[in-house]
Amino acid sequence: MMAEEKIDILEGAIKIELKAGRKCSFCTCGHSKKIPYCDDSHKKINEEQGTSYKPFKIIPEKDCTLCVSSSNWPNQKNKSL
Ligand code: FES
Repeated sequence: MMAEEKIDILEGAIKIELKAGRKCSFCTCGHSKKIPYCDDSHKKINEEQGTSYKPFKIIPEKDCTLCVSSSNWPNQKNKSL
């Protein structure tokens, strides 16, 4: 299956433009005020709830467009991938 086919089944995915060499940190905990990006809210959540959330980080080699989604984000539900 090609990547573009997978994008089609992401419900509520957020499309973002990324620049080559620029690090981007995505929220995995669902508590960021800047979803899809991490704002370090996971640190407080981890302390309070004993979880170990960490952001997902990428540094693209080329300018690119991504469609991102997480079932932990508000109003986001992944269909079966
Ligand atoms: S705020 Fe959610 S992972 Fe950082």
